Amino acid sequence: MAKTLWYKVENEDQIITPALFVYPERIKNNIESMIRISGDHQRLIPHVKTNKMRAVVKMQMELGIKQFKCATLGELQMLISCGVEHILLAIQPTKEKMRHFLEAQAKHTEISFSTLVDNEFSLNLFSKLAAAQNQKINLWVDINNGMNRTGITPDKAADFYMKLMIQPQIIAKGLHIYDGHIRPPLLEERIEKCNAAFKSVAELIKTIEDRGGEVPNHITGGSPSFYPHAQREHNLLSPGTTLLWDLGYKRIWKEAPFQQAAVLATRLISKPSENIYCFDLGHKALASEMPLPRVQIFGLEEAIHKGQSEEHLMVEYQQENDFKIGDLFYVMIIIGMNINNLKYAILILEVQGMFGEVTKLEHTFKNASF
Ligand SMILES: Cc1ncc(COP(=O)(O)O)c(C=O)c1O
Repeated sequence: MAKTLWYKVENEDQIITPALFVYPERIKNNIESMIRISGDHQRLIPHVKTNKMRAVVKMQMELGIKQFKCATLGELQMLISCGVEHILLAIQPTKEKMRHFLEAQAKHTEISFSTLVDNEFSLNLFSKLAAAQNQKINLWVDINNGMNRTGITPDKAADFYMKLMIQPQIIAKGLHIYDGHIRPPLLEERIEKCNAAFKSVAELIKTIEDRGGEVPNHITGGSPSFYPHAQREHNLLSPGTTLLWDLGYKRIWKEAPFQQAAVLATRLISKPSENIYCFDLGHKALASEMPLPRVQIFGLEEAIHKGQSEEHLMVEYQQENDFKIGDLFYVMIIIGMNINNLKYAILILEVQGMFGEVTKLEHTFKNASF
């Protein structure tokens, strides 16, 4: 491979694979693009789930972003350690998680916390737990406007919201709407679908206000619906994948200004039969809920991905080549990345001296819970 390729790193012979490389200049470009699209950094509450890195959070904080969304208690701890202003735990807590949430809230009074709720049982539980500790809880009502993953449907949400508003231990923050099911690759179609699904939410807000309730804010969307939601007023925006970007999202949103900012490295470790090549990139290092192919190997774009088995990725590749055992290959993530084997990323970043803040990055990886 030519030296000029943007993803190529120095000292390839020191790289222990599988490895993750992140490219700060590209991440910075992505953050600036996020701010440009949203029109105001204060509208952004980016999700940390796809990067889970303190260094990436810090880069966003340097550009004025102060509030973040997370999905696990490990990510919540990571955000606390960054000293962010506000953390939204964007998963409805069970009793055990709510106890942890309240503990974190009591201990870190310099940070404000919020979380989601979509049913009365949880609401009453949260109220009781908060009352027992003489605390209040900031809650967003999680709305299901079509994804059918979590949330209350808009037709039932007004009654629920009004009940929530009168609970003494609860502060109503507004609505949380995640519409990750909206993915048409044509921008016009995506805008249309997003607006159609949002109509019931707009009606819900009006119903609540007509009943004397107040919806101080609403948090909308992930990356594919980021642009459509950015065209609204008075909403917050919560993309996450925009930070590192990936091939899958690039295919959905071709015009997006985001650059791929994370690349994996793997080595050829075996050639078990004719035209079958095995790389050390199994699901124990890189997991995804998406079907194969989950990655694209530079130089083997035509390969047929046969499967991942523990530490192994097997592909079929028909074209003549001189691949040798031990050769290093760069890999583009397609979608739904979950990099489990992060220890290797630390090693690589130490070798490369990327971010210029290696010790902090190491700390990040070791402390995050995945
Ligand atoms: C609730 C929630 N908000 C925001 C995001 C970020 O979305 P995306 O990965 O499309 O940027 C996700 C990602 O899955 C999510 O689950």
